[in-house]
Amino acid sequence: MPGPGEQIFEEAADALLSRRNAVALTGAGISVESGIPAFRGTQGMWEKYDPMEYATIDAFFRDPEKVWSMLSEMVDLLARASPNPAHVGLADLERMGILRSVITQNVDGLHQAAGSRKVIEFHGNAEELVCLSCWTRYPSRAKILEGIPPRCSCGRILKPDLVLFGEPIPWTAQDEAESEADSCAVLLVIGTSAQVTPACEIPRLSKRRGAFIIEINPEETPLTRMVTDLHIRKVASLAVTRILETIRRVLPPS
Ligand code: APR
Repeated sequence: MPGPGEQIFEEAADALLSRRNAVALTGAGISVESGIPAFRGTQGMWEKYDPMEYATIDAFFRDPEKVWSMLSEMVDLLARASPNPAHVGLADLERMGILRSVITQNVDGLHQAAGSRKVIEFHGNAEELVCLSCWTRYPSRAKILEGIPPRCSCGRILKPDLVLFGEPIPWTAQDEAESEADSCAVLLVIGTSAQVTPACEIPRLSKRRGAFIIEINPEETPLTRMVTDLHIRKVASLAVTRILETIRRVLPPS
């Protein structure tokens, strides 16, 4: 018999084991326990920086140095962060043949660092910098060490290869994410406020196709009452760890 409060992890594990074919959609909340603050909420980046002034492509064209004052803080946080048990747990689920892919809105590379192989980066990543004038690309780390804001050899200030507000989603990522969302039987939605389109449409797409939606988030979101089948109101590392423990108890060791 599951202990008090354990029932919800049993239900999630059951759904994953009976249906397999799961996909995860992750947001900033999954990396909070790795020391990277989320965007929204009282501790969030957007409390300190108005996204309209610091995170739009228009703001970057208008005043790239100002945008870099926010980006440099983000780059510092990313450089210090390492995967937490939620990232590692998703990589384990992939190795066990239960999870097919991760669609992430995060640009921190922590899913790959944890060992996930199929990661769709919906909002790009912070690995490379790109010149919006001559389209030369640079590895971020080395270029940033030369100074902030980093500059192209043509003189222009470089932009990280992540999606700012007002920029399109990379075509391949959008296409792959839609096809994963369309064909999965379980969607694990972890640590996203589901307020930013088009990423927040993904759970609705999966739901329309008959997928079971498990949401892991200590808070409610616009999805919780409309789309979610099972809301695990816990932080990501605890919830993913408990689900994995439950799965491991019933699966024979490989
Ligand atoms: N575990 C799980 N969820 C958490 C945790 C945690 N430890 N900590 C916070 N959360 C939840 C919050 O309750 C919130 O619902 O994670 C969510 C984070 O929401 P946002 O900060 O809005 O992040 P996200 O949904 O990823 O934002 C989407 O907005 O600003 C843009 O481009 C940026 O990709 C980002 C997009």
